[in-house]
Amino acid sequence: MNPNNQPTVVIDTIPQTLADLERDTWKQLVSAPTRKKGAGFKTLTLATRSDEGADARTVVLRQADEVQKRIWFHTDRRAVKVIQLQAHPQATLLFWDDARQIQLRLVVRTTIHISDDVADEQWQQLWVGGRKTYLSEQQPGSEQPGPYPGFPERLGEDLPGQEESEAGRINFAVVECQALSMDYLHLSRAGQTRARFTYHGDETTMQWLAP
Ligand SMILES: Cc1cc2nc3c(=O)[nH]c(=O)nc-3n(C[C@H](O)[C@H](O)[C@H](O)COP(=O)(O)O)c2cc1C
Repeated sequence: MNPNNQPTVVIDTIPQTLADLERDTWKQLVSAPTRKKGAGFKTLTLATRSDEGADARTVVLRQADEVQKRIWFHTDRRAVKVIQLQAHPQATLLFWDDARQIQLRLVVRTTIHISDDVADEQWQQLWVGGRKTYLSEQQPGSEQPGPYPGFPERLGEDLPGQEESEAGRINFAVVECQALSMDYLHLSRAGQTRARFTYHGDETTMQWLAP
């Protein structure tokens, strides 16, 4: 505690070289899905292009691969974001880690997996609680006569059985995001750190930026 009784923000030591910074950042992304609720990078904002201009929403980070520079999240294949990504596959992923005071902005090219091995594999790993929303009879974003919970109303707070949950597979999609670039920003009173990493196949261009 400092003299004002405010908790002191502890910020991890930031690696010194651009290569260390890039490696450390991907390690944080890879480990985020298994960290506790509320931890940094567990959720992200997905920004897309729409006919009206721009759109954005929160999604859960499901997996990251530091070698391939890829990120995966799950969604309902009927969702508006899927239609937007099919029309404009390039998107921006915005991450924030409050404890470490790090923002990441990744420009990505997306691929939507619906009826393939990637979607099958992720579906197999999804527990029944995660599968519940894919049982929704209503298209996400469709107008309803009253509040609709996003799954069959008879389920209430119950979980579907394993066999029953399989009916959600038809609505399930995995969005794979291939990073094209990553803008890194670390906030600190001692000085901000900003860098840009650009990915061209196996090559990575690294550059310090003014914050
Ligand atoms: C904390 C949080 C996590 C969410 N995770 C997901 C997710 O992983 N996938 C998803 O499709 N929607 C997720 N949502 C809901 C979306 O933010 C959004 O409301 C919904 O998917 C409809 O978006 P769309 O109309 O742009 O397709 C989440 C919302 C919150 C608040």
